[in-house]
Amino acid sequence: MIVSGKVEALIRGLPKAELHVHLEGTLEPELMFDLARRNHIDLPFPSIDAAREAYRFNNLQEFLDLYYQGMAVLRTEEDFFDLTYAYLKRAHDDGVRHVEMFFDPQGHTERDVSFGEVIRGITRARVTAESSLSMSTKLIMCFLRHLPESDAFATYSEAEPWLEEIVGIGLDSSELGHPPSKFARVFQLAREDGLKTVAHAGEEGPPEYVREAVEILGVDRIDHGNRALEDPDLVRRLVDDATTLTVCPLSNLRLCVVDDMRSHPIRKMLELDLKVTVNSDDPAYFGGYVNDNFMAVHDALTLTPEECMVLARNSFEGAFLDADSRAAYLDEIRRYAEQQA
Ligand code: HPA
Ligand code: ZN
Repeated sequence: MIVSGKVEALIRGLPKAELHVHLEGTLEPELMFDLARRNHIDLPFPSIDAAREAYRFNNLQEFLDLYYQGMAVLRTEEDFFDLTYAYLKRAHDDGVRHVEMFFDPQGHTERDVSFGEVIRGITRARVTAESSLSMSTKLIMCFLRHLPESDAFATYSEAEPWLEEIVGIGLDSSELGHPPSKFARVFQLAREDGLKTVAHAGEEGPPEYVREAVEILGVDRIDHGNRALEDPDLVRRLVDDATTLTVCPLSNLRLCVVDDMRSHPIRKMLELDLKVTVNSDDPAYFGGYVNDNFMAVHDALTLTPEECMVLARNSFEGAFLDADSRAAYLDEIRRYAEQQA
């Protein structure tokens, strides 16, 4: 029998990478209130508890409405530094050794916060964390898919002076009605520039959106991908291509993508040999960071120690790391597993 406390300790110490986290979704209500005060912005919540109380969602759109409202407190380089550094410290506490984090520049530039202000704050926090917490980090710029492709092109142009800091592009926001194919040309441009590409697909959208992300956008990873399981041919392709899926269990529960953690598709994904990883998505809104996500899955579906190791290995294998860094992290897992034996 597997003792749950033992698996919990194993998860806590397990070296892992987080590949699906939106920086703006790490904005805890405490920091939101601090930044609102600093920037003289009125919040629609009377207290921190009231903000947390409002985080009850029936679907993705209900969450996104509060997510865009919340990010309005982020105005200066310092705000983006504080947000990013607070998340990286928190991730470090969870044994996260490498992070690939999303940011949504259009959520800021449309409020007249400059692209430079945003990326300078994030970059300074990354540099600080890399030396003081000895973690590695990368940044992925997402396009808001509810906006036209022409806006994504305009944002790409704004990012051009900063492409050294950006490992890839992604696609997020309201999925239904905004298929990946809408962004075919801007993804092609980014690929030609040597950037990595990822896209949210199959969170609420149908398996065809996952297929489009793979076949039309040529993505290196799928963010979520839950609904791919409805199409066996697609599953076969994802397995054959060893496509990484960045799954977010607590997000799925809080956005009613699954009814109950016991029916979460991650068990099936593992059985099918899909390259599944565990991630937090928007931890300030969904009630947990990466270890909380591992534990929620374990409590509902009982992860074996070997499955925990597979999930951690998948996270480094799916990361946009150079071969030496990847090998070093996989070696950390190997040594950790030996210590556990
Ligand atoms: N899905 C789509 N867009 C998002 C999400 C998400 O879970 N979080 C932040 N933007
Ligand atoms: Zn997401």
